[in-house]
Amino acid sequence: MTPTRTTPRAPRVAAAVATAALLIGTAFALPSVAATTLKSLADAKGKDIGFALDPNRLSESQYKAIADAEFNLVVAENAMKWDATESSQGNFTFSAADQVANYAQTTGKELYGHTLVWHSQLPGWVSNLGTAAQLTSAMNNHITTVASRYQGKVTSWDVVNEAFNDDGSRRQSVFQQKLGDGYIETAFRTARAADPAAKLCINDYSTDGVNSKSTAIYNLVRDFKARGVPIDCVGFQAHLIVGQVPSTMQQNLQRFADLGVDVRITELDIRMSTPSDSSKLAAQAADYSRVFQICGAVSRCQGVTLWGITDKYSWIPDVFPGEGAALVWDNNYNAKPAYNAIATALGGTTGTPTPTVTPTVTPTVTPTTPPTTPPTGTGSCRVAYSVNQWNTGFTGNVTVTNTSSTPVNGWTLAWSFSGGQSISQAWSSVTTQSGSQVTAKNAAWNASIPSNGSVQFGFNASHTGSNPAPSAFTLNGAACTVA
Ligand code: XIL
Repeated sequence: MTPTRTTPRAPRVAAAVATAALLIGTAFALPSVAATTLKSLADAKGKDIGFALDPNRLSESQYKAIADAEFNLVVAENAMKWDATESSQGNFTFSAADQVANYAQTTGKELYGHTLVWHSQLPGWVSNLGTAAQLTSAMNNHITTVASRYQGKVTSWDVVNEAFNDDGSRRQSVFQQKLGDGYIETAFRTARAADPAAKLCINDYSTDGVNSKSTAIYNLVRDFKARGVPIDCVGFQAHLIVGQVPSTMQQNLQRFADLGVDVRITELDIRMSTPSDSSKLAAQAADYSRVFQICGAVSRCQGVTLWGITDKYSWIPDVFPGEGAALVWDNNYNAKPAYNAIATALGGTTGTPTPTVTPTVTPTVTPTTPPTTPPTGTGSCRVAYSVNQWNTGFTGNVTVTNTSSTPVNGWTLAWSFSGGQSISQAWSSVTTQSGSQVTAKNAAWNASIPSNGSVQFGFNASHTGSNPAPSAFTLNGAACTVA
């Protein structure tokens, strides 16, 4: 949390222990063991896990609950950009940016600064300035004013964003055209003077693997280091496509680290053609896992920032028509398979294991007959229960649908196992087991189920040969129909 922290970061174990947000319950016996979050796992590893915040969304309880619980770093998705902070020359407005900074402070999260100099979301007046001297003065004034305001709060700044083309040449932004190659150096020197303690980063996209563009930035960093121009870190946006994590990503991050700068995945999302389906979501989970593993394997990788929380508000569908579902929580704030994959990559014991043993034993008892007592559903809830099982283990997936006309706020789903099954880990719920009785309570962020809406959660468990599905479930004490 301090701008002067050393690299690699010290593990934030105390924070991990203190965090007991209700996302993943560990069962076996009552009471449930302290829950795990991505934040607590990242804290324990000494890595940042961040998200891009739109402060207008904090009034939405599910958004805020996930934001509060799951991340130790926050960056403004738009609020600190030039058009948001200085829409007309010399008139600075910091209301939205301050909301982000205040959120970081009140929740104890690191505040990342994005971004000081960028060709996009740049107000027209900047491009209309007549002379190079006027543009230099405007750029330096902008950097100085914004970076000074958040001195002691922002730990790292994206000083210059997206300065290169894919072929490694300089992007012909107004800064490049009017000021030439030297504008990046000017920007970094000005930022250092404005906030000497903040780490200063250059950030870009399609630079995740070794390629012409990343090599151009590599050469710039090497040059800056050789000449004593201040630069501390390189951001890799990682707006990725499912199945296309660059094979050279770790090698690429490491070569930058070897120049003596920190590295960071700054804007991770992994998009797919929409609609999503289970195989695309599984591939996406593997890709998320891979990116977190790569950051874990590079000691100077400070962490990973997700470019948002829910697919509902992701920038992707607006910019890449026909693509989306790129984030870790779906439109209804259900954690997608990527959540568990990230937790596992961060060293959590919460992951769903991929069965390594192909089931060869047919369960001796296959429940083919319906329960003798038909479910006495009240019509207010419906439960779909499915398993993926192998010799002695299985993963359970449970979907609870609120079939009533009123929302459910806070839920407890209870059932009984008849075959000696024993749950070891659960996600998207806090699940406890006592004997054959299982109680799954909502996580902090999926407490409400709208009318006709549903929530999903899952668990890992063992079985002893036969694995009969529960024949009855209750939601907040009332019986559900079983789908
Ligand atoms: C995006 C935001 O997510 C959108 O809300 C906004 O409309 C456009 O910018 N690279 C960056 C980010 O550095 O600032 C961009 O954020 C995504 C691409």
